Amino acid sequence: MKKNIFADTVLKGLSLKKKKLPSWLIYDSKGSEIFTQITKLENYYPARCELEIFNTHKSTLSNLFSSTPTQLIELGSGDGKKTMALIRQLIEDGIKLQYTPIDISKGAIDNLVKILNQNFENSSLKITGLVADYFEGLASITENKKLRKMVLFLGVTLNNMDIPDAKSFLKRLHQLLNKEDCLLIGFDLMKNPKLLNQAYNNELFEKFNLHLLDRINECLQANFNKNLFVQQAHFNPQSRAVESFLYSTCKQTIQINSLNTNIEFAQWEDLQTEQSFKYSIQDIENLACESGFKITENFYDSKRYFVDSLWQVIK
Ligand SMILES: C[S@@+](CC[C@H](N)C(=O)[O-])C[C@H]1O[C@@H](n2cnc3c(N)ncnc32)[C@H](O)[C@@H]1O
Repeated sequence: MKKNIFADTVLKGLSLKKKKLPSWLIYDSKGSEIFTQITKLENYYPARCELEIFNTHKSTLSNLFSSTPTQLIELGSGDGKKTMALIRQLIEDGIKLQYTPIDISKGAIDNLVKILNQNFENSSLKITGLVADYFEGLASITENKKLRKMVLFLGVTLNNMDIPDAKSFLKRLHQLLNKEDCLLIGFDLMKNPKLLNQAYNNELFEKFNLHLLDRINECLQANFNKNLFVQQAHFNPQSRAVESFLYSTCKQTIQINSLNTNIEFAQWEDLQTEQSFKYSIQDIENLACESGFKITENFYDSKRYFVDSLWQVIK
């Protein structure tokens, strides 16, 4: 991720009347590490549900690779835990696999490549980890039109985008893919708001959101004091998203030296740091159709909290 994109995004978000920053800004190596700890929490159900889906349906997914040589590409791979269950199955099924995880977090890619090399040492698995933005990374590999591609976009990563941003992201992805390629996307589904509020309010989530302030301090020479902010997430029925905020506990002025600017916070003013839209199956069908894909199959966990939706490119 280029430094000026980080700077422009921070300046734009902190200049809004209602301050709001996107959650991708939180991910450096430390941010990824905290996110991995979150995925192990009892109340944080998405990671567990998706791992259950992968463990249950890995043979069906593996069958998609058996007829045609396929490159496995993962956007925002993080710790790749769920993908590892699929890779193990593919290798057991004798499939020669090329796996390309792409993530902006260098720590996440370095760890994943290291663990894969340890776990699949004497196998035919070929790994190329790319520390890059989704589309920078994809552009560098989509030239190879001969190899069919299976693109994974797991976790709650698409949930984190505004609906119009998710649509334009998917349309852009559609342009880069060929007719035979497919896409497997994780969607967190709408459920009891009590469960949603429990999942997003705990010490680790607070640490994760506050890490954004460390990132801004480090990258843009700012002077945020994490002790002067608290985090709280709320499910918003209007937007149908869990929205996470940092609240300034006092009136304060933040200096951001690299941007040559000061940002004022009133006491208890909020800064939105994350959002996670909760989808219905109808929303997912509409999104697929409007961005040039067709749903081939939906894989659910046993509680139907989460779905991994398999999409085919329509050209
Ligand atoms: C919500 S986490 C999900 C991680 C993993 N897929 C999982 O299911 O646990 C989002 C991941 O996307 C990565 N990411 C966010 N924005 C990105 C971008 N523009 N380009 C590449 N990776 C990005 C983050 O570093 C992070 O690892």
